[in-house]
Amino acid sequence: MSPTKEFSLAPFDLVLFGGTGDLAMRKLLPAMYFRHYEEQLPDDGRIICVARSAMSTEEFKQEMERTVRQHVESMYDETAWASFCDRILYLSIDITDQAQYQQLVEVLGEVPDRVRVFYLSTAPGLFSRICDGVAKAGLVTENSRVALEKPLGRDLASAVAINDELAEVFTEAQIYRIDHYLGKETVQNLMALRFGNYLFEPIWRREHISDIQITIAEQLGVESRAGYYDHTGAMRDMVQNHLLQLLVILAMEPPVSIHPDAVRDEKIKILRSLKPLSGRDVLDSTVRGQYSDGTVNGKPVIAYRDSDGVAPNSFTETFVALKAEIDSWRWQGVPFFLRTGKSLQDRRTEIVINFRSVPHSIFDMPRVPNRLIIRLQPEEIIKFQIFAKGRGDEMRLQSVDLDLDFNQAFKKRQMIAYERLLLDIIRGNQTLFNHRDEVTAAWGWIDPIIQSWEQYQVEPIPYAAGTWGPPASSALIAKHNCGWLEECP
Ligand code: BG6
Repeated sequence: MSPTKEFSLAPFDLVLFGGTGDLAMRKLLPAMYFRHYEEQLPDDGRIICVARSAMSTEEFKQEMERTVRQHVESMYDETAWASFCDRILYLSIDITDQAQYQQLVEVLGEVPDRVRVFYLSTAPGLFSRICDGVAKAGLVTENSRVALEKPLGRDLASAVAINDELAEVFTEAQIYRIDHYLGKETVQNLMALRFGNYLFEPIWRREHISDIQITIAEQLGVESRAGYYDHTGAMRDMVQNHLLQLLVILAMEPPVSIHPDAVRDEKIKILRSLKPLSGRDVLDSTVRGQYSDGTVNGKPVIAYRDSDGVAPNSFTETFVALKAEIDSWRWQGVPFFLRTGKSLQDRRTEIVINFRSVPHSIFDMPRVPNRLIIRLQPEEIIKFQIFAKGRGDEMRLQSVDLDLDFNQAFKKRQMIAYERLLLDIIRGNQTLFNHRDEVTAAWGWIDPIIQSWEQYQVEPIPYAAGTWGPPASSALIAKHNCGWLEECP
């Protein structure tokens, strides 16, 4: 099997710490399989899964058959699956025992010059132990990279500490901080839309845009992740990373090139120009919610507090809505409304850009704005709502959509975000990964909000599962004469 030229990659060893974990089984290994199936991986590419469970490589492959296979059904092929499994090795290592890293030394030492990726799909508390372990074992070569899953810390201080510890072992150019939203095609398409078309740039500013909404709504609840989620909450789990990354890509100035440093420089500027929210202002500009029992998709859902592993008196928020503002010439006065929640009515990640309405309507109709709606999931759609005269004698205007449906426009299959991200790490392209300064700036904005919630003892407002969150979320946006998309005519 030889990789197609366009995608040719150097031989690599991908070491997955947390190799038996949920992310590895559901996303990382399937992502690598898809690219293997499409013959985009070099023959000399190994995937070394590392975890504590005592198991042989053969037993691990049987486990993959039970777990990973169901996630690759759409492209399952017996021969491809068998040759993919040939790439896999499993090592049982207790990462807190330095002597056990010797197993990695032996395996990686067989091909010392390869690109080596240490992918840390573990709890953040283990990041520095693993970095220290691979460094002490002499495993970090010039060709090595480390990839880390979010959340990077739980506040500014812990994020700085983790980054300092990483910096003792790896250079910034070797560190790949993952926000899987950046690997989604439609997120990259936001940049294509903004910087590949002349049309939008002149109107992409305060003079023409009245407000921007970004929603990441999930129907899933806490599921089996209470151990992580109950001391994390929606603000740290979703807002600090995914939502802020979407905001930044929407708001950044055009970078001078697509070079990773040029793009990151512009992103950091936006994070640093977010208007600080602290003290009592937080009470006016944010809403915390927590789901109580209800019905999602026709199925009963138990309250967050009654879920396995969640403290019965938990104050963790499963919903956040907030108003952010950017202090810059381009965006002064334009509210960015962000919201995310679990066990909501619909699964939808969507950006809505509301343009200003016509200053005076000569038609017999309310002044409704043109809207650009960018839906990232479940479908990938961009639509522009304009007004046109409906058929008939009367001059009656109707809203019509100029639609771009990616499934119809492009023949290629929809990729999962991790495919692109994993290959970029192996290639050494950092464009879609966060620089330490971005992480620091994002926590620097989030920390005072969380502190203020603590200071004023802001308890999450209950909302029934299967709704759009607490009514306070609608009230927050209504104060600015706006409404969430589903509430608008
Ligand atoms: C993860 C969060 O980063 O993103 C999860 O930890 C959330 O809580 C998930 O469910 C959502 O990702 P996606 O790609 O399904 O929208």
